[in-house]
Amino acid sequence: MGDDADREALLGLVSSLGERIRVDRRMGRPLSYLARSAAVVPSEIPAFATGEAGGGPLTSLEAVREALGECERCALARTRKRLVFGEGRADTGLVFVGEAPGAEEDLQGRPFVGRAGQLLTKIITAMGLQRERVYICNILKCRPPGNRNPRPEEIAACEPFLIRQLQTLRPRVICALGSFAAQTLLKTETPISVLRGRFHLYQGIPLMPTYHPAYLLRNPGAKKQVWEDVQLIMKRLQETG
Ligand code: URA
Repeated sequence: MGDDADREALLGLVSSLGERIRVDRRMGRPLSYLARSAAVVPSEIPAFATGEAGGGPLTSLEAVREALGECERCALARTRKRLVFGEGRADTGLVFVGEAPGAEEDLQGRPFVGRAGQLLTKIITAMGLQRERVYICNILKCRPPGNRNPRPEEIAACEPFLIRQLQTLRPRVICALGSFAAQTLLKTETPISVLRGRFHLYQGIPLMPTYHPAYLLRNPGAKKQVWEDVQLIMKRLQETG
């Protein structure tokens, strides 16, 4: 009986690793976690690896910002005006993760300050929270020219710092804004329309995917679903607060 359970667990692990490799290959992500044949330890799993973001004790956002420096780890350094690290306090337990800075964010060096950002601020206020008391950041810290989609090598260079930020903040809930953020964090290609509406786990933290505010500006009809999603977040925050 015990052997059967062990076998089942092992088969489950093999199958989820296989799925992960298939998704990473399709999306052109590096398979660096396959590079060593030694036993896998958490720091070698991409979701936990922090690479250049430092492997030492988790300290503060300031330390992560310092480790990032005047980043030139990818080509976006040549076209960005300002690096957008993220802002807020997360003492409400909530972190929003978007895709990448747009034109206004690139100018100001702050996340979500353009039209989509103003809508996000309204959503946060409607949740009964203050914008300064949630943390807001993006998958990428620099603007892709013309707001094109982030490229795999850009994500690979930037993600360790986001992981470090999240490890430092230890939010009770993460809200992934839009398909890009949700698919990158959850390592899946499942559409946002399917992912949204329920919690997923990201490094043990409940993660709610929802539509991006920029999508809402083009499709106001989707506000109803976003409101449903943020109500689930509010309920979870109340239950765990
Ligand atoms: N869109 C994003 O995904 N992030 C921002 O910071 C602004 C717009």
